[in-house]
Amino acid sequence: MFKILEKDILSPVIKQMEIEAPRVAKKCQAGQFVILRLHEKGERIPLTIADFDRNKGTITIVFQEVGKSTRELGKMEAGDQIVDFVGPLGLPSHIEKFGNVICIGGGVGIAPVFPIARALRDIGNNVTGIIGARTKDLLFWEEKMRAACDELKVTTDDGSYVRKGFVTDVMKEIIEDKGKDNIALILAIGPQPMMRVVCNVTKEYGIKTIVSLNSLMVDGTGMCGCCRVTVGGQTKFVCVDGPEFDGHLVDFTELAKRSAIYLEKEREALDYHKCTCGGAS
Ligand code: NAD
Ligand code: FES
Repeated sequence: MFKILEKDILSPVIKQMEIEAPRVAKKCQAGQFVILRLHEKGERIPLTIADFDRNKGTITIVFQEVGKSTRELGKMEAGDQIVDFVGPLGLPSHIEKFGNVICIGGGVGIAPVFPIARALRDIGNNVTGIIGARTKDLLFWEEKMRAACDELKVTTDDGSYVRKGFVTDVMKEIIEDKGKDNIALILAIGPQPMMRVVCNVTKEYGIKTIVSLNSLMVDGTGMCGCCRVTVGGQTKFVCVDGPEFDGHLVDFTELAKRSAIYLEKEREALDYHKCTCGGAS
């Protein structure tokens, strides 16, 4: 069993938990993920590792309450136990000295971008961070990201905090300002439409771009095929070949279709959950 040591509410729908998982914390690296199950009959929830503390033996997860299982997780409190917490899974981020790097986190994607930005900066890259949310209340970890980057730009879709616009608007301005040849790498994590737009723009500029994909998963070990994506015309499994891929090679149309396969079932499960919980949350 894995104990929740701390719980923080980052926004009405985004929660952060510190989980006691010393063996995962000992081995994990930036970019990897875990799969957790709340109880014996629970759904498997894949979550990219948002932070880790090897000395304390803890992993930090940040999640958005989008479906039945994440809502159930959101109701758990410090002191509660999770039955399964498997990881680290997937390949770590490729960390080397590239030069000027832009790290983009959109919405909940801010959390998994954080340890990668920190690792890239620690090795000597000049890291510009861009974080964005729909509105001020959904933005989190601004100070953490500021500490992990040389420079941080913040944006909200509705202009309720700092500047108005998408993270991609800020990215374009930075590319124009610094010059495309002065940016060695862009890393983007967030909603699929965001990562797709990032890649479309950077492809035109010819800037290498890495995205971290959040496809549907079951086993997380390359056996079931659920997380299949097409990258550069080849079939890849996000859980063992990723989660990071060259964004210019990802078939985002197929990814979006596959991600929507169980939407109806997810809605039904959520409605049933709301009924059995008396409409709570
Ligand atoms: P969101 O819809 O609120 O968008 C967050 C930000 O992304 C926006 O503020 C905007 O700046 C940008 N954005 C969104 N759509 C855009 C578009 N069409 N063009 C340009 N920019 C756009 O995001 P959310 O509700 O927080 O969802 C976050 C998503 O990130 C979820 O789908 C989640 O599954 C995914 N996620 C992925 C990972 C991963 O490891 N790949 C980890 C965590 C979350
Ligand atoms: Fe089963 Fe990746 S989740 S192959």
